[in-house]
Parts: sequence; structure tokens; C-alpha cells
Amino acid sequence: MADTVQEIKSRLGILDVIRDDMQLKPAGSSWKGLCPFHHEKTPSFFVSPDRQVWHCFGCGEGGDLFAFVMKRQGLEFREALEMLATRAGVTIEHYDPRRMSQKSALFEILQVAQELYTKMLLSPEGVGAREYLGSRGITTEVIDRWGIGYAPDAWDRMSLELIRRKYRAEDIRTSGLVVPRKAEQKRHLDSLPFYDRFRNRILFPIRDLQGRTVGFGGRVMPVTSPSPSPTRRGESEHDEPKYINTPETPIYEKSKILFALDRARHDIRTKDFAIIVEGYMDALTAHEAGYTNVVATSGTAMTAEHVQIVKRFTENVALSFDEDAAGRAAVERGIDAALAAGMNVSVLSIPNGKDPDECIRHDPALWEAAVRNRQPFLDYIVDRTIAACDLTTVEGKKKAAKTILTAIAKLTNPIEATHYLQKLGNLVQVHEDILRSALTKSAGAKATTPPQASPHIAPEIRSRIIRAAERILGFLLKDRRTLTRVISRLTPAMFSDPRGVALYKALVSFYTQEATRDTPDFFSFDAFIAAYPEGKTYGNELLLRIEQEFPTMTDALVETEVRGNLVVLERAWIQSQLASITRTLALREQAAADDQESIRLMQEFTRLSEMLQHLDRDQ
Ligand code: UTP
Ligand code: MN
Repeated sequence: MADTVQEIKSRLGILDVIRDDMQLKPAGSSWKGLCPFHHEKTPSFFVSPDRQVWHCFGCGEGGDLFAFVMKRQGLEFREALEMLATRAGVTIEHYDPRRMSQKSALFEILQVAQELYTKMLLSPEGVGAREYLGSRGITTEVIDRWGIGYAPDAWDRMSLELIRRKYRAEDIRTSGLVVPRKAEQKRHLDSLPFYDRFRNRILFPIRDLQGRTVGFGGRVMPVTSPSPSPTRRGESEHDEPKYINTPETPIYEKSKILFALDRARHDIRTKDFAIIVEGYMDALTAHEAGYTNVVATSGTAMTAEHVQIVKRFTENVALSFDEDAAGRAAVERGIDAALAAGMNVSVLSIPNGKDPDECIRHDPALWEAAVRNRQPFLDYIVDRTIAACDLTTVEGKKKAAKTILTAIAKLTNPIEATHYLQKLGNLVQVHEDILRSALTKSAGAKATTPPQASPHIAPEIRSRIIRAAERILGFLLKDRRTLTRVISRLTPAMFSDPRGVALYKALVSFYTQEATRDTPDFFSFDAFIAAYPEGKTYGNELLLRIEQEFPTMTDALVETEVRGNLVVLERAWIQSQLASITRTLALREQAAADDQESIRLMQEFTRLSEMLQHLDRDQ
């Protein structure tokens, strides 16, 4: 076994495998990139081809090729071994198919099923389905490319075929291709314990990132002669659902799979932009028309897990959903999920309520315009809010202002935040009016539950702020000139960690005392620790970190790092102040509060917004 592992490692090479999965740039004798296991803007993920290991200084993860593949794809060691062995063309010794892991068996079953369904679509049985697909622009070539299939109108075709191929009943059941029969349905002793899930349906294979089929979306056949106009969601040609999908299985976790991502990943990375649509047909048509950065959520909202996966390829997403209530709700949930992960989110609206599939087939220029004119999510929220609220009434204005403020409080991306804070300059004026009239009118009205407008800081951003604080403290311990660079702008309150607050205060007072001793360039960690023993452990940790992170520390490097990290801290601090003002204002709006105080808060908000703009401009 150890030999097999070694053989696989040497044949594949850690660098090639990891580079296949993410972008790496040379960095001395190693390669670096943005860590796929946590959110970061500057690369701290390193691969050393010499030692055949990887390590992330940001999140502390690391290991060999196997550790990477296991963690990345959520595999057990055995599964990673099987996968990498196949890829390397190495046979695993004593390989016993009966001991094949359940997941491998499922992958095989799904592959077999996909081929069979395609065969049936291309056979005389599939003529009806083929005609219908043809009427929607899906040729035999497209069928081949996507492995589209057809399940005939029968109860046991797939079941019998899988049994014939000697798959374990347990694995067949788990594959999701069949439905277990209830006891009373087993009329005959010889009847099968399950029946085919997909009957008389067109099947779209759903694939994982590696392109392996993990499930199917089964579309109902049109009832009459093939009609070129598809029905809208919810309607169906029969009384049954338009789509039946494979249920969750060990290889198909719905919240993690995006349809067509296996084909789109490359283009998404190249374009640094992904478009998320709702339907299988939408994604398929987009790809066939050459828009290959499109993936589908399969009719649900984008989950936090979807977001994490897309984020491996880009931080920029546009959501395109149907213009109905369900579609809008999906957009809003998708926005939240993507924002929480620090993504740049926009919304793509197609005029006349068309779906992407129709739009692309009938008017590609219209689609391109829709993509080009996609709205940053906050513009979308503003438009939607303005449309939904009657702005001629005070109540309408109040409602609108609240919704928009809540949305602004959700922004985590500093660049986006700056952009909208500029817009807020105008909003404030509107808002003052609203507040003033709202306050007089609602005097005496009962305060309801406080609105939810808490600052929405994604964990990745939080950790970025912590790292910035750690670096600054590290440089302060390393180089006494750092203090003169930061002291006028950095206040203890900007450190969120109490240890940081204490250490910074101690450093400032130590330096100030030192300076009076006429030895301006002198600083020794030991002398500092003698004066401030509580800081020893934390101080040592901080020094170790920056020494690891910056093995060669030139003056220029220290200066840039200090400046950059200082901005991170300042920005975080301003944003937390802004969020807290937003919260207070929202509360005051409900409890009939003093007008003057609201105006003062507004002015403070504007002042801080301007500071934030300057910060980004100067950078
Ligand atoms: P649509 O109704 O927009 O389907 O639902 P579509 O993909 O555009 O199909 P056509 O054009 O009518 O042939 C969008 C997605 O919602 C999921 C499917 O993933 C579908 O692609 N859905 C829809 C279901 O899972 N079940 C349903 O009953 C309907
Ligand atoms: Mn459609």
C-alpha cells in the first residue's frame, strides 16, 4: 500500500494535481495561490514541489497530495486512493471489487445508467423525446455532448438492467434511480423490491465537478405533439411534476451541486465571472450558444455551499432568476448567501419575463445586453423597493428607507461598500425628511421589535481583520519605526482582540518612555517583555507569524505591509461604526426619538462615509 501511494505521488506530482484545481503562481522554490479552504484576498496557500507538500499560512491546513484531494473533494482515504490510482494509471494491489467503496459503486451505477438512457433516447423508443428535443434546438450532437437520455414508459427497465449487471441491491437502492416498493405493492413473490424512478421522461445528467454523473433531472414529456414553446415553472403537461430529480444520495448532495459547473469551471475562472440561472435547459442552451460561464441551481435558491464552490473559481456572480415571486425570493436568498461569503453579487434581468433559454435562442443580443446591464445587487434592491413602496406616502418612504439601509448593512466588500456609501450621501437627505415626518407622525406609536440590521461580517473578513491586527502588532514588535508610521491613525479601540488592545497600549507607553531615554532606535523584545511580562506568549506568537510570513523583511516591505494592514483595520473600524449608527437610527425611527439626535447621527454617518471613501481612494 505504501508503495502504491508513493507510486501515485511520483507519477502525478502534487503541483500538477493542485494546479488542475486552482490557480498557482511561482513564488521562489514554491508556488502560491488563494487558499481554497478559506476566504482570502492575498495568497497564503503554498505548494512545495520539492517536498511534495502544501500548506496554508492563513488557515493552517496542510499535508500531502492525498490530504489535498480528500479535503477538497470530501473523500475518504480509500476513495481518494481509488481516484488518484485511476488517474495515475496505477493498479492498487489486492484490489477487490467487492470491497469497492459504496461511493465508487454508485458512480459506476450512475455512469452505466446514463449511457443506457442515452442509448434509449437514440433508439426507436426515444423518437418522441428526440422530436421534442429537436423542436427545442437539441440535436443528436448536443444529446451526445451532454449525455441526455430517455427513460421509456416502463416500471422496471433500469431496475432489471442493474440487477443483471450484478450490482448489490443495497447500492442500486441507494443510487436514487429506483424507488423501494412497499410491502403491499409486492404482489408476486418474484416481483422486484423496487421500481424505476424515471418513467417516460427526458433525462439530464447532473454531474459533479469532476464530470462524473451523480444524478438526473427528469423532465416530463409533452402531452401533445412536440410544441416549441416550453411551459413555465409549476405548470406541467400532466398532473405530475414537470421535473423529477434524483433524491439526495451519498454522491449527490443537492446543496453542493450546480448543474453544468463541470463544463463551466474553466470559463468561469478565465472570465472571473459566473452566471447562475435556474433551469437545466437555461444552462444547456447558454453553453450551446457559447456562453460557457453559466451554471444552474436546478430551480432552488443558491445555498451557502453552492457559493463556496463557485468561489473556488470566481468572486463575481450574477443571478438570473424568473420574474415570478418564487424567482425573486430565490434571488434574495441567493444574494444573502453570496454576500455572506464576500462575493460581488449582481442581478441579471431579462426583459419581457423570458427565461434565459428562450432569450438566448430567440435573441442572443438581448441576452448579451442583459448580461452587460446586470445590476449590482444593491441597485436591484433599490429598484425593487422603489417599485414596491409608494414613495408619495410617509409609510412608503419609511419602509423603503428601512429596506435599503438593511441591505447596505449587509455589504462586506469594502470596495462595494464605498460605492454605496457614496450613494448614501443622497439617501441621507431623503432619509432625513422621512425621519422627521415619521418621527412627528409616529409620536406615541408603540415600538415594535427592533429591526434586524446587525453588521453582517463574514467570518473570512473577520479573520482578515484579525490577521491585519496581528501583522501590525508583529511589525511593531520587530521594528520600532513602525510606531511612528501608525500612531497618529491607530487607536487601541481598532483592535477587536482584547490581547491586541492591551499589547498596543503597552507598546505605546513603552516606546514613549524609551524615547525619552535618548535611544530612539533601540528596541528589544526582551526589554519590552521585562516591562510587560503578560505580553510574552502573545508577543512570541506574533513574531513567529510574521517571520514565517515574511522571511526576508526589507524596509520597503515593512512599510507597504504596515500601510496596507492599517487601512484594513481603519476600514473595519469605520464600517462597524457605520453599522452601529444604522442600527441606532433604525431603532430611533421606531421609538419616537429626538429629532436633533437623529440628525447628528446622520451627519456622523456622512462624515464616516467620507472617511471610508478617502481611505479607498488613497490606497
Ligand atoms: P423551469 O420550469 O424553468 O424548467 O424550472 P426549465 O429547465 O426551464 O425547463 P423547460 O424549459 O420548461 O423545459 C427551473 C428548474 O427548476 C427545477 C428544475 O431543475 C428546472 O430546471 N424544477 C422545476 C424541479 O426540480 N421540479 C419541477 O417540477 C420544476
Ligand atoms: Mn425553460
